[in-house]
Amino acid sequence: MDEKIKLSIDGKTYEFPVIVGSENEKAIDISKLRSETSFITLDPGFGNTGACSSAITYIDGDKGILRYRGIPVEQVAEHSTFVETAYLLVHGNLPAKEQLRAYSASFTKHAKLHKDMKNFFAGYPTTGHPMAILSAMVCSLSAYYPELVKPEPTPEEIDESAVQLLSKVRTIAAYSYKKSIGEHFVEPNDDLAYIPNFLNMMFSKPGKPYKIDDDVVKALMVLLILHADHEQNCSTSTVRLVGSSWANLFASVSAGICALWGPLHGGANQEVVEMLEEMKKEGGNIKKFIDKAKDPDSNYRLMGFGHRVYKNYDPRAKIIKEQAHKLLTKLGIHDPLLDIAAKLEEAVLKDDYFAQRKLYPNVDFYSGLIYKAIGIPTNMFPVMFAIGRMPGWIAHWKEMKADPKTKIGRPRQIYIGPTMQDYVPVEKRK
Ligand code: ACO
Repeated sequence: MDEKIKLSIDGKTYEFPVIVGSENEKAIDISKLRSETSFITLDPGFGNTGACSSAITYIDGDKGILRYRGIPVEQVAEHSTFVETAYLLVHGNLPAKEQLRAYSASFTKHAKLHKDMKNFFAGYPTTGHPMAILSAMVCSLSAYYPELVKPEPTPEEIDESAVQLLSKVRTIAAYSYKKSIGEHFVEPNDDLAYIPNFLNMMFSKPGKPYKIDDDVVKALMVLLILHADHEQNCSTSTVRLVGSSWANLFASVSAGICALWGPLHGGANQEVVEMLEEMKKEGGNIKKFIDKAKDPDSNYRLMGFGHRVYKNYDPRAKIIKEQAHKLLTKLGIHDPLLDIAAKLEEAVLKDDYFAQRKLYPNVDFYSGLIYKAIGIPTNMFPVMFAIGRMPGWIAHWKEMKADPKTKIGRPRQIYIGPTMQDYVPVEKRK
């Protein structure tokens, strides 16, 4: 219970408390390390550093376990909806029937964008990446809802901002797509549920309504649910860090979207499909790409493989792979990229380089093939990830706000620059 870790420095012994999580994960609480010893810890990439305690998501990367509020993600993906999953993550429990109905209804109520916000889209070049537009628009929401952006919002105001974000992110995403293809926006339809409404805004055209296919909706639902949270990843930690300065939820989430965009994080789903296209162009010669990824003199990586936390098959990738096969078969699509992906996975799993480093397919490896089958363009894939991750970002921001232990995030460093030197006036410099 009161376990302590002893640290000996220059013959003096210091004791630090051990913190134990509900799944018996252990941490050494070093919050007094610097004041007691003058040492700090150095951990680039924070692979061994916990920044908070959290009750939202549990991952055991060695065993391939992922649970939302204790519920295995496999069960959530099979039985739940994205709206219900959002409620679970943001509010901490599954909603009762009436709570779920009211929650869904609040998304319908807040789906429309302020009419002035729609003008912003006209200013972007059609070639602009939709993640740039999404992050800017999400941050801009703070300009339209000033009543929600106080440094100390009430719980009701936080919930209101959360619903605004969860609902409007679909509309912003669909409008950024319509803008990029030069088509008119399709307004949200109050009669449609969360995902059909999004698909309708994306793909309906004047005089040509989009036909909702239940299997497409189910596949997209599973993808969004599987992306909904993943504890302290790069974008979620960004949201928490920005929020720790008391920045508002819209601004914090906008920063998270920017962090997600990078190819080593949520941008990887776009990169995977582009990599598979390259492999196809090369006549399916995957060996060339594998060799390049293994070459110590090259920075090249096989996109969609490897994970900081999973040292086993990513449980999300397993479900997404099955969904990809199921949906493509149902839609009668034979995508040669799926064949190349399967060949690549097989070759990688047999290869010592990847085995030694425990590199398995991650969530991004097969997801792009589902988005592609639905008709979502490649540069929108990270946007789809952002829609899915929205509940997680919000849940963490909310938890961070409510935690009395939260302090402004401010890591230390070890300075390695020049020691003290005098200023030299410009005329005397060589
Ligand atoms: N292809 C080839 N080699 C790889 C790959 C890869 N995809 N990923 C890691 N490695 C190698 C590294 O070169 C390194 O080798 P070394 O020990 O010989 O130097 C070793 O495996 C460990 O890699 P790190 O970069 O230290 O692992 P880290 O935990 O920091 O990175 C990451 C994890 C960023 C996901 C990495 O595996 C990667 O770049 N993967 C490709 C991008 C990707 O798919 N990102 C999506 C991740 S899931 C998500 O964020 C939603």
